[in-house]
Amino acid sequence: MTDYVTYSDDLEVVPENEDAQINDIVRYLQTTQKRTFDERRHATRDTHAKGQGFLKGRFTIEADLPEELAQSLFATPGAHDAVLRFATEPGAMLDDRQPAARGLGLKIFDVDGDKLGNDGRTTQDFTFNNCPVLPLTDVPTYREIHYLKAEYGHDPELLAQKIGERDDADLQTLFERLPNIDLLANSYYSQSAFRFGDYVCKYALMPNREAQRALAARPVTDDDSPGVLTEWLTEFMADNEAGFDFCIQLQTDPERMPIEDASVDWDVGESAYRKVATLTLSPQNPYTPARRVFCDDVLGFDGWLGRADLRPLGSINRVRAKAYRSSSKMRHHLNQRAEFEPTSIADVPD
Ligand code: HEM
Repeated sequence: MTDYVTYSDDLEVVPENEDAQINDIVRYLQTTQKRTFDERRHATRDTHAKGQGFLKGRFTIEADLPEELAQSLFATPGAHDAVLRFATEPGAMLDDRQPAARGLGLKIFDVDGDKLGNDGRTTQDFTFNNCPVLPLTDVPTYREIHYLKAEYGHDPELLAQKIGERDDADLQTLFERLPNIDLLANSYYSQSAFRFGDYVCKYALMPNREAQRALAARPVTDDDSPGVLTEWLTEFMADNEAGFDFCIQLQTDPERMPIEDASVDWDVGESAYRKVATLTLSPQNPYTPARRVFCDDVLGFDGWLGRADLRPLGSINRVRAKAYRSSSKMRHHLNQRAEFEPTSIADVPD
């Protein structure tokens, strides 16, 4: 019988000076967000600025899950509506031909339970990138890297040289070496740890149809267009179904599977990803103007506003608690849009 780490409020180790470092990071993010607003005269997210496609789906929780997986939201089998936003990770509007991390925000409707945000929402958000680890590691590393970006960002070659001089240069450039493939062919990972009811987990979405996985054989090339990923998604979703398995990796060893360091890949040999739900995406148009504006400008995804028994854990998640609120507030304020949390899939335009 496997021993799973039991959740308790003292699993996190919070360094004394962390708050000041988090405030530095948030100030830096606000400066860059304001700068990009001045250039574009439109506010975007601090990161994941380029929305690549927006899909409605059904999220079906498995029946008969074993006790360790039948936790929190996953204790009750059944189907929920869902909306997802694919995005490219940086704050810059990158050309799709440039390799970069791809992100996925997932919102599940009709979710009960106590929420950390206390704002009456009936939704649960999950956020992912298409890489099992987050090179930014923890608050101190994040702050150092963003200091370099602030100092040398105007000169990409010098910035690359400065990052190259770091001991963890390989790790910090990992996202640049991710395969640049169809959005539907990637697996997507929480990278960081979360409470999972009585336990602790990371989570992932894995493509669950052969036709989707086969798309990985066609990488983006220089001959493709700057918006090729959205074009491919739109073409595929016009007349195909797609889907992802939502999987949980339970923490079994606090040393080898740390919460405080998001750059450590939890060994799947020690604790495998196990399916707890299926996300099904029917044929649809993922890039209509109405849906794009709603998902880019109105919607937000933030695990810190969701269920308390799915709360984010660890250093990198503690900075997110302030960063997402600050970015969302500024983006809505500068665009003069009210923050709005949908209560049903009918609130998401077609
Ligand atoms: C731990 C791994 C992380 C993952 C998987 C992740 C993923 C994502 C995704 C998918 C989005 C887009 C959400 C949307 O469409 O609204 C997003 C947005 C964002 N992320 Fe992260 N992220 C991570 C870590 C971080 C960290 C460490 C920070 C910075 C401190 C950060 C700052 C932000 C901000 C500011 C936004 C925009 C929020 C908004 O304006 O609504 N993220 N992230």
